[in-house]
Amino acid sequence: MTDLASTPAAPEVPVDPDAVAIQINGKDVVARKGDLIIKAAEKADVYIPRFCYHDRMSSVGMCRMCVCEVDTGRGPALTPTCMVTVAPGMKVFTESETTKRVQEGIIELLLANHPLDCPVCDKGGECPLQDQAFSHGPGESRYVEEKRHYEKPIPISDLVFLDRERCILCDRCTRFADEVAGDPLIAFTHRGNNTQVQTFPDEPFSSYFSGNTVQICPVGALTASPYRFKARPWDLDQAMSTCTGCSVGCQIVVQSSRDDLVRYQGFDDDGINHGWLCDKGRFGFESLNSTDRIGDPIVKHADGFVTTSWDDALTRAVTAIKTAIANGGPASVSILGGARLTNEDAVAWARLATRVIGTHNLDAQLGDGLPYELLKTPRATINDACSAATVILLGPDLKEELPVLYLRLKGAAEKKTIRIIEISATDTGMTRYCAKSVRFAPGEQAAAVRQVLADEAAQIVNGNVVAVVGRASLSESAHFTMDALAALQAGVEGLKVLPALRRGNVIGALEAGLRPGADGKDALGILQDARDGKTGCLILLGADPLSDFPDTELARQALNNATSVIAIDTFLTESASHASVILPAAAFSEKDGTVTNIEHRVLETNKKVNVVGTARPDWMIAADLAKRLGGDINIASLEDAARLFPVRDAASHVVAAGNVAPPALNGYQLRLQVTRKLYDDGVALRTSDHLAKLAPGAVLYLNQTDANRLGASNGMHLKVSNAKGTLTVPAAVDAGVPKGVARLAFNQPGISAGTLIDATALVTDVTVETA
Ligand code: SF4
Ligand code: SF4
Ligand code: FES
Repeated sequence: MTDLASTPAAPEVPVDPDAVAIQINGKDVVARKGDLIIKAAEKADVYIPRFCYHDRMSSVGMCRMCVCEVDTGRGPALTPTCMVTVAPGMKVFTESETTKRVQEGIIELLLANHPLDCPVCDKGGECPLQDQAFSHGPGESRYVEEKRHYEKPIPISDLVFLDRERCILCDRCTRFADEVAGDPLIAFTHRGNNTQVQTFPDEPFSSYFSGNTVQICPVGALTASPYRFKARPWDLDQAMSTCTGCSVGCQIVVQSSRDDLVRYQGFDDDGINHGWLCDKGRFGFESLNSTDRIGDPIVKHADGFVTTSWDDALTRAVTAIKTAIANGGPASVSILGGARLTNEDAVAWARLATRVIGTHNLDAQLGDGLPYELLKTPRATINDACSAATVILLGPDLKEELPVLYLRLKGAAEKKTIRIIEISATDTGMTRYCAKSVRFAPGEQAAAVRQVLADEAAQIVNGNVVAVVGRASLSESAHFTMDALAALQAGVEGLKVLPALRRGNVIGALEAGLRPGADGKDALGILQDARDGKTGCLILLGADPLSDFPDTELARQALNNATSVIAIDTFLTESASHASVILPAAAFSEKDGTVTNIEHRVLETNKKVNVVGTARPDWMIAADLAKRLGGDINIASLEDAARLFPVRDAASHVVAAGNVAPPALNGYQLRLQVTRKLYDDGVALRTSDHLAKLAPGAVLYLNQTDANRLGASNGMHLKVSNAKGTLTVPAAVDAGVPKGVARLAFNQPGISAGTLIDATALVTDVTVETA
C-alpha cells in the first residue's frame, strides 16, 4: 500500500504569467498575452485567411477577411481576428458555418470589382486573392454588373506600376510607406466606390524602399518594372541567399527563370531585415544580367583589348607578378579591393598575397572606410542596437549607406524602445527620429562627443549604449572618427560598437586578412607607391579606385604609373581598363559561399545561375595563380577555403585617441562634407537598367547664411574650387547644413567630388563662387 504521507510533493510548476489558455476549433491552446487571435491561431497551425494583416505592421482591420466567430463568454460574435488579442477562456471558431459564410461573402465582394486578369497578372500563381478565392471563396459570384475601370497601369515611380482595378484597398502599401519606410508618398484618395491608392500631385513614389510594397501587395495591383512579365511563379527556381548590395546582410530569396536572375524577394530574418529590402538591393540583380559583364579573360594589345584563353591570361598575370617581385621584391606587388568577394574568396586571396607572393600591401577598403581596429572593439548586433537604451550614431547617413539598418533603428526609435543621439556634420535621413542631433564642423567630432557625454551623462549611465560607427565624410581624415570613438569608449563603460562600413562583404574581407599587414600599406599607401613608380604590379580585386577612392587624381596617377595592373572583376570598369590582364570573376548568385555582415554574422550566399562565359570564383583564380607562381595556398575546394576563414573571439579592443586637430577655417571658405547617396555612378548601379537613372546628381548643399553671403539660390550654378580642382555644381539651400559647411554627394554621374579631395589632407576646404 502506498504511504500517502510519504509521497513526495509534486514539483511546483512555475506559473507562466504570459500564458493565456484559449480554445481554437474546440482544441485547447496556450497563447501568449498580447497575441492577436490571428497570430495565436497561426502558432497553433490554424490558418485564418487575411489580406490586410501583416506581422510587421500595425493592424488596421481593413479587409475583414480574417473575421471568425469568437466567443468571449457572451456567445459567438463575428470578430476581426487581426484586431483583437487573446483573452483567457476565449473560444475561436475558424471553421464554423457562420465564419465560412462571412468569409465567402468577403471574397465575393472583393471580386465584385476585381478584373480577373490573372492570366496576364504578374501575381497570378502566387496571389493570396487567387489562393483564398479557391480556399475560402463561394465558388461562384452573384454579381453580374460591369466592373469598375481605371487606366491600366500607371507608373507611380521609376520602379513601381499601379493597376488600380486590381487593388483591394488593404492599406498594406500605404501603411508600409508611412509606418515602416517613413515615406508617406502614397495614400488613399477619393471616397466610397472610387477610393484608390494614389501618389500626390507631381510627387512620384520615390522611396528607397518602394519594392517592399510590391512584395507585400496581396494582389497584382503593384508590380515592379524590373520584373513585369519576366516570369511566372511556376517557372521560377529559387535559393536562399544574402544581399551583398551593402553590409547589412539582408536575407533574400534569389529567383531565376531559364538561368536568368529575375527577382529578389525579402526574407524575414528576425535579427536582420524583418523581410524588408532597399530598392538598390532588391533590383540590383539587373546589373548581373547586364550584357556588359565580362565573360572571358581579356588582355591588352597595342590596338586594344582582346579576349583570350584562361591559360594565356593567367600566364601573363603570373609573368607580371614575377617580374614585379624580381625587380622590386614582394612589396612591389599590391592588392586593392576584396569587399565584393565571399569570405572563402577573400581567404584564398589573403593567403596568395601573404604566403605565396609575400606582400602585405593589401586593403579591401578603398580609403573610404575606417581602420581595421574598429572591428576589434566590443561588438553589437543589429538587435542589440535596436534594444539599447541609447544608440549613438557616429557615422554616415544610414538611410543612404545601410538602408535596412536605418529602417530597423528608425522603427525602434518610433516605438520608443531606443533613444538615438546623432552626432553628425549635417542633417541625415535619421535626424527626425533622433532624440538629439548634435552638429559639428567636419573634423571636430571628438569635441562633439565629449559635449554629448557631458550633456547626456544621466541618460548614458542608464542602461546599455551602442555606437554605430562609420566614415561620415570622404573629405576628411578617418582619424577624426577614430578619435571620436576613443572619446566615446573612454566615457561610456561597456560601450558596444556596430561598425557602419558599407561595402558588401567588407567585414568578411578584412577578417579574412585582406587588410594591411604590420609592415604593409593601406589603400592610400598602395596608391601613393603606385603613383611614385614603386609598384611593379597593382592587382585590382573587384576594386574601382577611380570611382571609389576619395582622391580621384591620386587614383588616376597610380593607375597610370604602376608598371603593370591586373584586374579581377565582373565588369571592365574605368579602373580595370588600365589593366593589361583582366580576369572575369563569377558574380553573386553565380557561386556558393558565405559573407560576414556588420554584426559579424556569417551568412550564406548561394549559387542560383550559371556563370557568365567562363568566369570563375575568385578563390579558384587565387588557387590557380598560386600554383603557377610555384606556391600553394592549400585550397583545392570551397570547403577548404571555408575551413580557413578565421573565427575571431569576442573583441575587447580600446581605441587610443590620436588627438588630431583640424586646421582653422579661413572665413572665406567652406569646409566640405562629401557623403554617399544610395544611388551613384558605381558600376553596379550604372549597369542596372532601372536603377541607373535614379542617381540624383551632385548638388552643393549650403546654409542660408552662406548662400546669402555668396548671392546663391536654389539651382544656381556654383564654382567650387581648391588647390586640387574645380567643379561646377548647382546649389541648394538646406537648413540642415550648419554655417561654414557645404555638403556634396560623392561619385555622381558627370561630377566627381573626388576631384576636390586630397587623401592626405585632414579636411577639405573649398572656395565657392557663383559660376
Ligand atoms: Fe493593398 Fe495592393 Fe491596393 Fe496597396 S495596392 S492597398 S497593397 S491591394
Ligand atoms: Fe541589400 Fe543592404 Fe539594401 Fe539590405 S540594406 S537590401 S543588404 S543593399
Ligand atoms: Fe483582418 Fe484584414 S486581415 S481585417
